Amino acid sequence: MSPAMEPLYEGKAKKLFATDDPDVLRMEYKDDATAFNALKKAQFENKGKLNKAITLLMYQMLEEKGVPTHLVADVDEVNLHVKKVEILMVEVIVRNLAAGSFSKRMGVEEGAEFQTPIVEFSYKSDDLGDPLINDDYARELGLATPEECAFLKKQALIINDVMTEFFLECGMKLVDFKIEFGRGSDGKIVLADEVSPDTCRLWDATTGEKMDKDRFRQDLGGVMESYEEVLKRLSEARR
Ligand code: TMP
Repeated sequence: MSPAMEPLYEGKAKKLFATDDPDVLRMEYKDDATAFNALKKAQFENKGKLNKAITLLMYQMLEEKGVPTHLVADVDEVNLHVKKVEILMVEVIVRNLAAGSFSKRMGVEEGAEFQTPIVEFSYKSDDLGDPLINDDYARELGLATPEECAFLKKQALIINDVMTEFFLECGMKLVDFKIEFGRGSDGKIVLADEVSPDTCRLWDATTGEKMDKDRFRQDLGGVMESYEEVLKRLSEARR
């Protein structure tokens, strides 16, 4: 695991490396933070460590509830071993309360509750700014078949139920989140990428305080303190 080794892929928050096993990759969580399609950038000491630990804990919890993920094993402070999958270029967003781009686009006040969660797809393309798409776009762009889109939506809602309940147990409201899926060599689709305060909006259930990357996006300060608090609460609930 030499640090000089070249990554197979480097994204905004993680790097992927080959391992001795052709079916397994090493995913390294970086300290880099970006927002607004990398218009805003910063580094936070320990962010990689915290997001790796949070993702690991969430994946283990989800696996126990019957949600398949690409997790293979914990490696060290900032690395996980993950199954090699082909990442679907469709980002799946689930919203329980209005916030972020939904509030902006629709002119709906942040915090307005939806009767039923909203599932949204976007095209995973930094060049295009992850534009909103639907099943028809996904089919015609060759991103996912209609059957796969239906599966993504179904899985996303199951994941939302499981995570909403778990976060609530930890005193946090799951406002919305973005997940990605990967297709294994067997064609099976599993949850991939990360589940962390970078990719979930989390509000303290009592005070409503923001505990996620919105603290960075909106310059609220105390970004890593919040991520640490999220990890502490999740770890306590898992004990
Ligand atoms: P949005 O309200 O900005 O569309 O974000 C919805 C959710 O998706 C929110 O929990 C943050 C997360 N997200 C990402 O993980 N990556 C992204 O690139 C964006 C735009 C949002």
